[in-house]
Amino acid sequence: MVDSKRPPGRGYTLGYLLGTLLLGGCALDGPQSIFETAGPVARHQAELFMFIFWFGVLVFVAVTGVLIYTVAKYRQRGDEDGSVPQQIHGVAWLEATWTAAPAVILIIIGIPTVGMIFNQESRVDPAQKDLVVNVTGYQWWWEFEYPELGITTANELHIPTGRRVVLNLESGDVLHSFWVPRLAGKRDLIPNQDNQLWIEADEPGLYRGQCAELCLGAHAYMRFRVVASDEAEFSAWAGLFEPGGAQQVQAQADAEQIAAGQALFKTKGCATCHAVLGYAYGEKAPNLTNFGIRTSLAAGVLDNTPENLAAWLRNPDAIKPGNYMPRLWPLPEEIQDDAQETEIEAEIAALVAYLESLGKPVPLSASARVGR
Ligand code: CUA
Repeated sequence: MVDSKRPPGRGYTLGYLLGTLLLGGCALDGPQSIFETAGPVARHQAELFMFIFWFGVLVFVAVTGVLIYTVAKYRQRGDEDGSVPQQIHGVAWLEATWTAAPAVILIIIGIPTVGMIFNQESRVDPAQKDLVVNVTGYQWWWEFEYPELGITTANELHIPTGRRVVLNLESGDVLHSFWVPRLAGKRDLIPNQDNQLWIEADEPGLYRGQCAELCLGAHAYMRFRVVASDEAEFSAWAGLFEPGGAQQVQAQADAEQIAAGQALFKTKGCATCHAVLGYAYGEKAPNLTNFGIRTSLAAGVLDNTPENLAAWLRNPDAIKPGNYMPRLWPLPEEIQDDAQETEIEAEIAALVAYLESLGKPVPLSASARVGR
């Protein structure tokens, strides 16, 4: 027989420790936490969630309380003979109560929920000076097009703070889902269906997002970032896309290398898939017009540093398995010849210099030409 007075054994202790470790992964303040809201849409959604959660706790406590009370009060006691208690059929008031109570509970939850659905409807309101961005999901990256500004960019969505941004969500291939947990809940991108979502950021900052719908291959690496800044900074960013804004061969020490990289961009075939405003017009892969000022590369997977970019160019599949970026050179272990390796490294260094120069602050003379 089990001795119920025995203190909890090692199994319990281990269970508690393991539970603590597992639950320790659930931080409330992570970079993609829905509880660290940074805009009105996410905030209202989190408030509704918390309301429903605590209401659920209330219902749980009430039902469990009544259950425990009943079990304790009407349990069989030692001095009873164990015969079947008196049988009754139905208690009208009790049955009416537990039929009505769930309906009342659903109404209490339903009213704020329906209100929220209308509040989050993504209609464009001209009076509010909404910014419209067309978002297209591709395997496995994001295109952001600003129709009013004539801007097309990728994987990094720039928005001004304190303004509604209405996103038209489309897909270029399969199902994807746009999700920036700190700004708004998920919404799917579905081929041939117009979905919309509006977001707004309260404060300048960098907000992480990711595709939240299994889209095969590199789905787990289909990330992106939202960069929120004040109106002045947002306008400065948008200005980089004006003619001459991003296209410059800098009058700097590395100008020669940048020019070599720019030429390689075409001879190596990059321009077949990628666009750079005023220079290349590929459409199958992310537009790189302002690549040099992006914080990340490979759709939010790596921070944008020259080292990471060189590693990405050399072997994209090692960083983002299954992606469609081809490998343009043999790997170091496939090469016997030192001279060939040196040549490859020089080519990659030139491409890195060129790509990192894209969108960088325009040199003074060119800056004057653009008028910013
Ligand atoms: Cu796109 Cu998952």
